Amino acid sequence: MGVLASYSIEIASEDGVVRVRNQVREVALRAGFDAFAVAAISTAASELTRNAWVHGGGGAARVEEVEEAGRRGVRVDFRDAGPGIQDVERALRGGFSTRRSLGLGLSGTRRLVDEFSIDSTVGVGTHIVIAKWARLGARA
Ligand SMILES: Nc1ncnc2c1ncn2[C@@H]1O[C@H](COP(=O)(O)OP(=O)(O)O)[C@@H](O)[C@H]1O
Ligand SMILES: [Mg+2]
Repeated sequence: MGVLASYSIEIASEDGVVRVRNQVREVALRAGFDAFAVAAISTAASELTRNAWVHGGGGAARVEEVEEAGRRGVRVDFRDAGPGIQDVERALRGGFSTRRSLGLGLSGTRRLVDEFSIDSTVGVGTHIVIAKWARLGARA
């Protein structure tokens, strides 16, 4: 996989949500995503940025335009040094919130993207990587 462009964004306030969302949107449009895919990856990235801020106490996102086997994609990496997730399986099943917020949650986020990986360690932090690919035939 080749990285065509990379942007690092600090998640140090609520503003991070908008900044990550806008950067993801810009990269997704450049990568040739259709409107539905742009909305999907932007929404997923917003949720994970909000989680990193609200639950993780802040951290950083890296937004990348990537290319593999002739297709373009967007990959976003989120890191925080917060409390970590006690039970990742349970959190991914959905319907589990320690804050009762109304977002689509980790489970909804996972359904919006093509790749989703999570590595969370209690007392250390959480690292999540998502990726979504432009439909084949879409032009960048
Ligand atoms: N980055 C994170 N750091 C620590 N805990 C997290 C993080 N992201 C999610 N969690 C935990 O997983 C739960 C489920 O997350 P999520 O599905 O996004 O729901 P919500 O954010 O609405 O609570 C959260 O309530 C929180 O306990
Ligand atoms: Mg959430």
